Amino acid sequence: MISTDVYQAADLLKSGEVVGIPTETVYGLAANIYSEKAIRKVFEIKQRPLDNPLIVHVASIDQMEGLTKDVPEKAYKLAGAFWPGPLTLLLPKSINVPGLVTAGKPNVAIRMPGLGLTRELIANAGVPIAAPSANPFGRISPTTAEHVDKYFPELTMVLDGGPCRSGIESTIIGFDGEEPIVYRLGSLSLDEIEVKVGKVQLRNKKEVAPDAPGMLSRHYSPKTPTVLCENIADELENRTEAKIGAIVLQNEIQNQDVVQAVLSPDGDLKEAAQKLYATMHDMDQAGLDVILIERMPETGLGVSINDRLQRAAQGK
Ligand code: TXA
Ligand code: MG
Repeated sequence: MISTDVYQAADLLKSGEVVGIPTETVYGLAANIYSEKAIRKVFEIKQRPLDNPLIVHVASIDQMEGLTKDVPEKAYKLAGAFWPGPLTLLLPKSINVPGLVTAGKPNVAIRMPGLGLTRELIANAGVPIAAPSANPFGRISPTTAEHVDKYFPELTMVLDGGPCRSGIESTIIGFDGEEPIVYRLGSLSLDEIEVKVGKVQLRNKKEVAPDAPGMLSRHYSPKTPTVLCENIADELENRTEAKIGAIVLQNEIQNQDVVQAVLSPDGDLKEAAQKLYATMHDMDQAGLDVILIERMPETGLGVSINDRLQRAAQGK
């Protein structure tokens, strides 16, 4: 059931139910971190292996401090700059975080969501809330309550906070001593981070960090075969499929036979990020033989979008 009742959602979470919840990035499949039953159910319905940990969402710095220890100075600096918002910090966990949530790892991933409704929900539930993206393992993340309802009709409730305003997942930053390391590119761009803490290392490739978060090479995938293209018009000359879809940043191509979607008529990468997953969901429902997606410029959020597109397209 899709609902806007934040108090009922908080009660359900408190009592150990799994609830679909909105955030500014993507929708999550939420559980009270202290309910083992609810946490297990999240892994189960998402078909997520138990060795892949969950992000914990908090409504205050106090709540974060209860869940962590030895927090680096730069983590406070980043939290001060970007919380509430699409930044997840990997921090040494305190004994207050159940091992099931972190898959036995010594760090806990924590973020304070940018959407006011999500913080209100956490505050009312009175407990930290674990939530992975609300998609079956490997599939496209949901950016509307309807996406979640379609993936998981068995949920008692999906809290509706409208379409996500950022549209791709949070950026994940861990620390090597005091040195920030980016493990997953996301809604917060590298440029924005580097303005605050200087040059950061990127360790988001499987080869470099086999244990790094969100780094499975096939991920965020439509069911329809998906191809990442430098140039859609050139790629079309090589395609033999009957029904072709194309997702472009700004300029439609001149071809009546191709089903097209423009992410941002102004070429605005923020708008493109916001619309990306919903557009991929729609294209995936359209009965196409192949989806071609144009590579974005490698600036700002374009870097994060290209990361997702690469993973969506691999292994087809
Ligand atoms: O924007 C987001 O971050 C969304 C919304 C719902 O908050 N959540 C999200 O969660 O994207 P998920 O589970 O789909 O992706 C989180 C990634 C996973 O790849 C997981 O392996 C990694 O973060 N992760 C979580 N906790 C970790 C930990 N303790 N140590 C290392 N990696 C961790
Ligand atoms: Mg995910």
